[in-house]
Amino acid sequence: MFILAATGSAVGLGNIWKFPYITGENGGGAFVLVYLVCIALVGIPIMMAEVLLGRRGRQSPINTMRLLVKDENAAKVWQFIGWSGVVAGFLILSYYSVIAGWALAYVLRAARGLFTGITAEASTAAFGELLSDPKQLMIWHTLFMVMTTVVVARGVKSGLEQAVRVLMPALFILLLLLVGYAMNSGGFSQGAAFLFSPDFSKITAGVVLTAMGHAFFTLSLGMGAIMVYGSYLPDDASIAKTSVIIALMDTGVALLAGLAIFPIVFANGLPTGAGPGLIFQTLPIAFGNMPGGTFFGTLFFLLLTFAAWTSAISLIEPVVAWLVENRRVSRPLAASLVGLLTWLLGIVTVMSFSAWAFEFTFINETKSNGMFDIFDILTANIMLPLGGLAMAIFAGWVMKRESTVEEFGGDGFAYKLWRFVLRYITPLGVTVVFLKAFGVFDAGS
Ligand code: TRP
Repeated sequence: MFILAATGSAVGLGNIWKFPYITGENGGGAFVLVYLVCIALVGIPIMMAEVLLGRRGRQSPINTMRLLVKDENAAKVWQFIGWSGVVAGFLILSYYSVIAGWALAYVLRAARGLFTGITAEASTAAFGELLSDPKQLMIWHTLFMVMTTVVVARGVKSGLEQAVRVLMPALFILLLLLVGYAMNSGGFSQGAAFLFSPDFSKITAGVVLTAMGHAFFTLSLGMGAIMVYGSYLPDDASIAKTSVIIALMDTGVALLAGLAIFPIVFANGLPTGAGPGLIFQTLPIAFGNMPGGTFFGTLFFLLLTFAAWTSAISLIEPVVAWLVENRRVSRPLAASLVGLLTWLLGIVTVMSFSAWAFEFTFINETKSNGMFDIFDILTANIMLPLGGLAMAIFAGWVMKRESTVEEFGGDGFAYKLWRFVLRYITPLGVTVVFLKAFGVFDAGS
């Protein structure tokens, strides 16, 4: 159940929508390589730490951190891990829901047969129309937030976890089908080369920060979502094994999505740096030109919506769990309240693609979708890595070694390796990436 819930949280828009588009924007292979290194040296160790904290506390992240701070005689400031997670989850969900709304809109478009025989130009134009129409975006954003709030309000997640068991493999198989299509699209070797042959001249501090931030985002780390699910993990389950399994599945889905999309990009002469619309501009071309495309296209966007749904739930669960524990609010009231606030903030993202768009530069990169990009950078590239860094230091340095050994289930080789990486490599890595990206090392130049 933990693996199903955590996989449901991890696999989502991050893998299928975000990974391909930021890979395209950041030059391909070198970005992918840095991302994989970040998954191994930062993501997996922190996932293990976050699961461990959750299982030891067995409450909402805010109360778990309060309890652990007391048990370990630590300073009160560590409780900020719980609080910043609540804020990050709220901010992320506000734009995540808008993007999930695009997937919903595409379910309908696919089902109406609108992809049939579509050209690259028509597909790009159709996406542009959706983006510039706040009314439509609002409808889909609202629907998605209602879906999410209803599940969280009823607290019936077991049904969804069972669904993950069937629907995730189905999504995986559809991705394989798309990769099969991509192999025959005429752009496969170019697409694969773009993803897997690194051009190291493309690596800048900003690229590394984005790759590291994405490692947190895609594994749902740094804000307490995995901590909540860790609190369900039975005492005898292996934290190390389950974390590695989840990370591998998550990475596999992302790489498949990349392999499905970039061949289409090259075969149709589309720009790799198309931005957040990348999969919505490319995949309709694939579905529109394959036999049974209307059926497969509809199914694909349905499954993508489902994957986004199980992720969205994990984004508000920490705060709802806390409200229910402490404020003695009923679950439906807590979920509705948080859902409503998130929905309201989502309007900012809806408008950021049209009327409220503005350009700005962040670490030498021009961003053109105003507040959407700001929310994304602030959460994925700043808040999640900071939250994760704090968890690594807390589990690696503040907690007593015996506590972590007990929770980990022994101090064999896996434990020693994890502890070493978590204490030295992970915190150093995150800190260096931050300092470098924010220009501390070359101040004055
Ligand atoms: N990991 C999810 C995705 O890739 C998004 C997500 C769900 C998330 N819960 C999270 C990201 C918690 C950060 C923190 O789509």
